Amino acid sequence: MTTLIIGAHGQIGQLLIKALVAEGETPRAMVRAEEQAKVVKDLGAEPAIADLEGNVQSAFEGCDKVVFTAGSGAKTGPDKTILVDMWGAMKAVDAAKAAGISQFVMVSSRGAEDPEKGPAKIKHYTVCKKLADDHLLRSGQPYTILRPGRLTDETAERTITTQWPDTADEQWIPREDVALAIAHCLKTPVTIGKVYPLFHGKHSFSDALN
Ligand SMILES: NC(=O)c1ccc[n+]([C@@H]2O[C@H](COP(=O)([O-])OP(=O)(O)OC[C@H]3O[C@@H](n4cnc5c(N)ncnc54)[C@H](OP(=O)(O)O)[C@@H]3O)[C@@H](O)[C@H]2O)c1
Repeated sequence: MTTLIIGAHGQIGQLLIKALVAEGETPRAMVRAEEQAKVVKDLGAEPAIADLEGNVQSAFEGCDKVVFTAGSGAKTGPDKTILVDMWGAMKAVDAAKAAGISQFVMVSSRGAEDPEKGPAKIKHYTVCKKLADDHLLRSGQPYTILRPGRLTDETAERTITTQWPDTADEQWIPREDVALAIAHCLKTPVTIGKVYPLFHGKHSFSDALN
């Protein structure tokens, strides 16, 4: 099986490469620049250079599964949120469908389920994430959507929950657990067609996601 990771040079992207390589896979790592290609190659992935603001179709050739974990980040403005987090994600869904991909795992976000309920400061982001998720849900492309809470750099707890914690303070999850949850979804067909909130918690990946 070959999995294309979009956003492979990012923090979750690199943790996911490590998780898949540990399982014996050689993922295809989509990155934007030559120096990033070297980084992902050293981790054990096969690099493919492409930019979500350009044409991405060739990166999908020969792949079975796709993970979208790209994001324009907080340092750029809402223009890039539209072009990368929304339009780039929608473009990736269309490219996956054209390539006959069997599972598209979208790293969405807490708040995408209802942008009206979240903080105004990040509403442009949660609206973009929701519209990208809606495009995937309507596309006919087999999907798994993960909606993690605030990402942290803690070491993986290797346990999670898909239940909403009572307080916003508790709505976090280590990036490494998100990467492990993605790896679990990729090898567990029952996760196809599901949308999961994702937080730190006390359940095994199987108990929470299967
Ligand atoms: N931060 C949070 O608390 C939070 C919460 C929930 C969900 N999320 C979601 O989690 C995901 C990943 O998080 P992370 O911490 O791993 O992010 P990250 O480290 O910022 O990684 C994002 C990756 O996306 C890539 N990217 C940006 N623009 C691109 C473009 N035009 N074409 C191709 N790739 C592009 C970046 O490439 P470069 O390396 O070249 O910059 C980077 O490698 C994102 O989808 C984000 O929306 C975040």
